[in-house]
Amino acid sequence: MCGIVGYIGNGNVYDVLIKGLQRLEYRGYDSAGIALLTPDNKINVYKTRGKVSALENFCRDKNTESRLGIAHTRWATHGEPTDNNAHPHYSEDGNLALVHNGTIENFKVLKDALQQHGVHFHTETDTEVLVQLIEFIKVQNSCSLLDAVREALKQVVGAYAMAVIDKNEPDQIIAARKSSPLVVGIGDDEMFLASDATPFVDHTKNVVYIDDEHIAIIRKGEPLRIVDFENKESKVSVKQLEWSISQLEKGGYPHFMLKEIFEQPETLRDCIRGRAVADQGKVILNGVLSNSEKFLNANRIIIVACGTSWHASLLGKSLIQQFCRIPVDVEYASEFRYSKPVITDKDVVIAVSQSGETADTLAAIQIARDKGAFVYGISNVVGSSIAREADSVLYTQAGPEISVASTKAMCSQMVIMALIALYYGQRKGLLDAKTRHEALAALHGLPKQIEDALPAMRETAQMLSPLYASAHSFFYLGRGHAFPLALEGALKLKEISYIHAEGYASGEMKHGPIALIEPEFPTFALAFNDALFPKVKSNIVEVQARRGPVIALANPGADLHVEHLWTIPSAWGPFNAFLALPAMQLFSYEMADYLGKDVDQPRNLAKSVTVE
Ligand code: F6R
Repeated sequence: MCGIVGYIGNGNVYDVLIKGLQRLEYRGYDSAGIALLTPDNKINVYKTRGKVSALENFCRDKNTESRLGIAHTRWATHGEPTDNNAHPHYSEDGNLALVHNGTIENFKVLKDALQQHGVHFHTETDTEVLVQLIEFIKVQNSCSLLDAVREALKQVVGAYAMAVIDKNEPDQIIAARKSSPLVVGIGDDEMFLASDATPFVDHTKNVVYIDDEHIAIIRKGEPLRIVDFENKESKVSVKQLEWSISQLEKGGYPHFMLKEIFEQPETLRDCIRGRAVADQGKVILNGVLSNSEKFLNANRIIIVACGTSWHASLLGKSLIQQFCRIPVDVEYASEFRYSKPVITDKDVVIAVSQSGETADTLAAIQIARDKGAFVYGISNVVGSSIAREADSVLYTQAGPEISVASTKAMCSQMVIMALIALYYGQRKGLLDAKTRHEALAALHGLPKQIEDALPAMRETAQMLSPLYASAHSFFYLGRGHAFPLALEGALKLKEISYIHAEGYASGEMKHGPIALIEPEFPTFALAFNDALFPKVKSNIVEVQARRGPVIALANPGADLHVEHLWTIPSAWGPFNAFLALPAMQLFSYEMADYLGKDVDQPRNLAKSVTVE
């Protein structure tokens, strides 16, 4: 959701910024813009609605010579996605240009006050308020840009990452953050600024994650400085990125989503390596060892997450309850934060987030911590806000996920959930050695099983997509461990193919949804070979009795008579979910691709949802 890039160095500023914006495209956006400080200290702002390629076209006949610059992809919040509302925004006298991610909640109050002082506004955005406020303070107090930014941010309520340049103080970018990510990359005689490290990973692996309510002072030829809003210097802690460029490229696949679906065997291997020790029948979770007592003595586990991560959490609930016998609640972070939750210091909260930046999940963590609960974070992004806010963090190690629709990240979250359940089941003495050995052997077997099954799964998905692409609606049904998967299958289908889909617990069909069944309304049923199979089979028959066509995803030998019986290999108990997941992802992928949709960047969606 919105992306910021900044660059100071001897490279071609325009090229670095455009390439950086392209790398951030995956976050989701609807307009793009760039501010370049020219060699004679003027600021040129070029911006346009649409893709980064539209911005490149727009800049083709413009002066792009520059000594430093900032750039932005905007996901509209205040004001439509127009050329005018796109960032960067100039201050009134054109001395400053600013880009911003997030929302300024008190922008109306600030705007009214500035207007009373004669400041004119030219856009509908909340962002323009920030740049006007900074300039106003700078002029009123005859102070430096840094001091004006500090003072302005003390008045701002909301979430933001921002970067500003000033033609009267050339050779510097001032950037700050609160609840929205910002990273500085330190190269040889050059520095980068971005919402995440993807824009500069081919230039440097040295990164500095800016802390909340801190300001980065990025000056040419000087070391990076970080201060808080009171101007107190902070330590600059440089971390090493472990990403490689190949993780950010499609590697021969037509879309990142397809690549990431096919990466899941590797994701599983990376996620269990050193954690699931099959020959000893043991799970080792270093990140949580020192905090185990909290979990072992917990009255209740509350898992907070959004979207796909929430679905992985539902699977986690059934695994933790099954193996650890601790009650588990799974809450939407967006609901939890406003629900006046009853939490005590005997509760453990697990916050699950691929990006580690989801605003609602971050807020949920803060509430849980304020109430004394111990918070585990499960995140895919090292150094992310959620990873840093949690008391203890487990990384999912899925590598960068570029496609907006989450695939391999969910797989890795499910693995972490399984590991947590097995680890605490083992610590609580509730899991006998035989079950532990079986579960761990099954986990180790999954990567190969999925690897072998993926090509046939894709073929089936390709075969089915033309047959079902004209449907306007789908049901996804599942019971027990398959229920979270049904929800995820429906979410994946709607988000990338724009076909309406709803996931239901199979047993709920009779309580209302079955009224919708007719020959044009297909059902995608998950029917694993477990104790619930006879029940699921009855639900399928009920759909068929209303002439609803059914695709059933089942294990070999399933006694089902449906329009399309899609057989996938069996796995150990609840781990069937790991094989169902890529099949359903591929079905959505092929449907969307067949319908000619923008698979990697579906309309209206953002990868990292940093506003509530
Ligand atoms: C769906 C999807 C979203 C995210 C949700 C939470 O494919 O990607 O539903 O799962 O926005 O994001 P994270 O996990 O980054 O907190």
